[in-house]
Order: sequence, then structure tokens, then C-alpha cells
Amino acid sequence: MTPLIDPVNPCSVTLSNLDINATRQIGRKLGHTLAAGSILLLQGELGSGKTTLVQAIGEGLNIPEAVDSPTFTLVNEYLGGRLPLYHMDLYRLQPDAVAQLYPDRYWDSLEVEPGIVAIEWAERLPYRPADYLMIQLHSDDNRRQINLTPVGNFSLPAMDRER
Ligand SMILES: Nc1ncnc2c1ncn2[C@@H]1O[C@H](COP(=O)(O)OP(=O)(O)O)[C@@H](O)[C@H]1O
Ligand SMILES: [Mg+2]
Repeated sequence: MTPLIDPVNPCSVTLSNLDINATRQIGRKLGHTLAAGSILLLQGELGSGKTTLVQAIGEGLNIPEAVDSPTFTLVNEYLGGRLPLYHMDLYRLQPDAVAQLYPDRYWDSLEVEPGIVAIEWAERLPYRPADYLMIQLHSDDNRRQINLTPVGNFSLPAMDRER
């Protein structure tokens, strides 16, 4: 897998032709290296691998329990790893419910310990943080493409090493 650099935004990296193990490896690497306060906004159709990626981020954070889909809870909080992981899925939420979630309390870190915030269906957010990693997933049979675009002052670990 060769990471493709976007000439328009050289910080944007596209990883293609990923099998499930490659997807998991990317997630583990992110979980292992991302700094506290990292916000990950995940976009991609149903089944594109968003939850799978977040589960691997949980592994990379050494969270002892399995990360599950938060479809029936608003936010799943995992506190047992290197950093807390806050996992949200906005898929089933109406816009007013999304607003009531006050997602900004997870990134201004006033009420919660700074950690990794992963938000599935982030296109439903009414507002975004200043700095975040946009993660766009596409699926083609069992192969996935993942595009990572840092926005604002987000520093992305090099994804082309340790592969
Ligand atoms: N290369 C791959 N990367 C990620 N998931 C894959 C891959 N190949 C097959 N899958 C399967 O696709 C499904 C993705 O589901 P999920 O991660 O829940 O997607 P989403 O959260 O985007 O709806 C899982 O059942 C996973 O095992
Ligand atoms: Mg999901």
C-alpha cells in the first residue's frame, strides 16, 4: 500500500486497497500515536469501516475492553487506556439531538479529561472544532480507501512507516 499525497493539500494522505488487516493497522497506529485532544471526524457510507477503524484506535490506545458501536448510546467513553476515547455516532440522531449532545464539551476539555474524540457521521455536526482530522472512508467490496486530511493545526503522524 503506497500512500498517495494530494498535490493540492500535501498534508492529505490517501491509503487505498486496504484489506481489513490494513484498516486495523491504520487504526492501531492512530491510537498509538495521536495526542490528547485529537478530534477525528469520520465520514463514509454505512459499512465503509468507520466503527472498525475506531475499534482499532481503541486497541492502539490499549483500551482493555472491546470498543462497540455507540448506535444506541450517544457517547461511549473508554477510560482504561493510554488516553480516554470518546466515541460518538450521529447516524440516528436528529439535528436537535446532535445539538443537545454538546459535542464541543469533548473538545474544549472543560468537563472531560482530554482524550481522543472519534465522531462517526460527522457531517451531521452543526459546528466543528478549529483543529481536527477529517477521515473519509470508501468501500469497494472488501477493500477500503481511507483519506486522512488534517484541518487547522492538526499534526498527522506519518502513515507510511511501520507497514
Ligand atoms: N478492508 C476493510 N476495512 C474495514 N472493514 C472491512 C474491510 N473489509 C471488510 N470489512 C467489514 O466491513 C464492515 C464495516 O462495518 P463498520 O466498521 O461497522 O462500518 P461503518 O461504521 O462505517 O458503518 C465490518 O463488518 C468489517 O468487518
Ligand atoms: Mg459505525
